[in-house]
Amino acid sequence: MSDDVVTIAAFAGSLRKASYNRMLLRAAVELAAPGIKVVPFDIDDVPLFNDDLDSDENPLPSVKSLRDAIRCADALLIVSPEYNWSIPAVTKNVLDWASREDGVLEFKPTAIMGASTGGFGTVRMQIAIRTVAGFTDQWFLNDPQVHVARAREKFDAEGRLTDEATRKQVVELLVALAAFARRIKKVSV
Ligand SMILES: Cc1cc2nc3c(=O)[nH]c(=O)nc-3n(C[C@H](O)[C@H](O)[C@H](O)COP(=O)(O)O)c2cc1C
Repeated sequence: MSDDVVTIAAFAGSLRKASYNRMLLRAAVELAAPGIKVVPFDIDDVPLFNDDLDSDENPLPSVKSLRDAIRCADALLIVSPEYNWSIPAVTKNVLDWASREDGVLEFKPTAIMGASTGGFGTVRMQIAIRTVAGFTDQWFLNDPQVHVARAREKFDAEGRLTDEATRKQVVELLVALAAFARRIKKVSV
């Protein structure tokens, strides 16, 4: 962390091009307040977790790149859909790969947000994702929570987040995550 900029590594747990969660991540990049930088990392080429493919000496480029992105950042932002009331495989897969190298997820300040076309805005996915901290030791931000329900009504044809209340929530979540990361940094030095 430089003195004045908090870096937040971020990914969207949906691979489809017209994903609302990708749009929401894009909004986070644009809405980050001064002193906060949201840096998306790409997960399109990350294979399904397979321990046979994991090697300290010769890591897969896509896996190395996601681990480096999270390790080097001050915080992590997960932007994910909810599938069948829980965590999509795509999102969990990223956490599984990240968790197999020391120093990537432990004590990483982490926030979650998500968009769904249904009425609950990924609330069940967000609860499910918090349970992974039992093993990964991530520190999750509790509030504010960003649940983007009925996503079709909240983005325009260009994929821009147009709902003013949601835009404000995204700003507030990023500010809270940056403050959380700064507090953790202060007590750990
Ligand atoms: C396999 C599958 C399961 C889904 N399960 C849920 C669900 O449990 N709750 C929900 O609100 N929406 C669910 N949906 C609808 C998603 O909210 C919707 O497809 C959304 O657009 C996915 O996010 P994306 O646009 O970022 O890809 C599901 C969609 C799929 C494909």
